[in-house]
Amino acid sequence: MTTKKIVFSGIQPTGDFHIGNYIGAIKRWVAEQDLYDNIFCVVDLHAITLYQDPKILRAKIRQAAGVLLACGIDPQKSLLFVQSHVPAHAELAWILNCVTPVGWLERMTQYKDKSAKLESVSTGLLDYPVLMASDILLYQTDYVPVGEDQKQHIELTRDVAQRFNALYGETFAIPEGTIPKIGARIMGFDDPTVKMSKSLAAEQKHHAVGLLDSPDQVWAVLKRATTDSGKEITFSEDSKKAGVKNLLTVYQALTGQTQAEIENHFEGKLYGALKREVADVIIEALKPLQARYNELMQDTSALDAILQRAAEQAAARAAPTLRKAKEKVGFVV
Ligand code: TYM
Repeated sequence: MTTKKIVFSGIQPTGDFHIGNYIGAIKRWVAEQDLYDNIFCVVDLHAITLYQDPKILRAKIRQAAGVLLACGIDPQKSLLFVQSHVPAHAELAWILNCVTPVGWLERMTQYKDKSAKLESVSTGLLDYPVLMASDILLYQTDYVPVGEDQKQHIELTRDVAQRFNALYGETFAIPEGTIPKIGARIMGFDDPTVKMSKSLAAEQKHHAVGLLDSPDQVWAVLKRATTDSGKEITFSEDSKKAGVKNLLTVYQALTGQTQAEIENHFEGKLYGALKREVADVIIEALKPLQARYNELMQDTSALDAILQRAAEQAAARAAPTLRKAKEKVGFVV
C-alpha cells in the first residue's frame, strides 16, 4: 500500500496548451511527481460542454496526452488517461448531481462568464463542476494542483463531498486545491487584464504562446506584448504595469530566480530587451519538450497503449469508491 498522498488533476483537450497551463499546472505536476501518487486526466467529457468539431477533438485528445508526456509526465510514476475511457467519472457525476443544489452551480463565475457569451447554454456546461468533483472524489484525492481559475470549482468539490458525507455517511476524502506561488494566473500577452486562455488564444493571434509554437511564433507574440508608457521593469502592483508584471512573472516561473534578482538584472534595460529575454527563456523551456513531442508522435500506437493501460488502472482505482457511493445511496450492488 502506498503511503503517498494522492494527487489528481485534469486538463481540457480544447485548443492548444499554452504557457499559462504549463506554469499554472503542468510544470508542477511534473516537478512533484516523485512526492505523490499521481493521477492526471485529459478531460474530454468536459471539453464537449462547448461544441467541438469531432475530428479536431479526436486529434486534440492525442495531442494533449502527447504534450503531457513530452512535458515530463512519466507513465511509470503517474497515471495519465483519457476521462471518457473510465466510465466511473460519468457514473459518479450522476450520483453527485443528485446532492448538488442547482443554485451552487449557477453561482460559479466560469459558468456565468461562459454562458453569458452563448445563445444556447447546454446542461453540461452548468453541470461541469459536478463532473469535476466526480473526477477528484473518485480517487480519494488529497491534493488538486491547479491554476487560480479553478479555485472556486475545488471549493464546490469540497462542498459536494461534505454534503454527500453528511447525508449518507463518510464516503469521500475532502480534497485540497493547491495553487502555485508564482504564476497562478498568467495573463494574456496582448491584454494583461484578462487571463490567458485557450479559447482567446484561438481567436487572438498575439494572446498566448502555445507549447508547440516555434521560436519565430514565440517572438512574434512577445514582440507585441502589451506593456505601458513607462520604463521601469519591476514587479509593481500598479494596474497600469500589469503587462510588465506578467512578463516578469513568466520569467520568474521559468528561471526560478527571485524577484530581487530579476529586478536587478533588468535595471536600466528597455522593454524591448525584457520582451526578447522572456521570449528566449520560453523558447529554451519549450525546446526539449517539442523534441520529445515530435519523437513521440511519430508512432501514436505507443501513446495509445500508455493511455489504454492507465485507463484500466484508473478504472480499478475508481471502482471501490464508486461502489461505496452506490451502496450508500441505496442501490443494489
Ligand atoms: P483547463 O484545461 O482550463 O486548464 C488546465 C490547467 O491550467 C490552469 N490554467 C492556468 N494557470 C495559470 N494561468 C493561466 N492563464 C491558466 N489557464 C489555465 C488551470 O487552472 C488548470 O489547472 N476544469 C479544468 C479541468 C479539470 C480538472 C478536473 C482540474 C477537469 N476535472 C479535476 C482539476 C481536477 C479546466 O478546464 O482546466
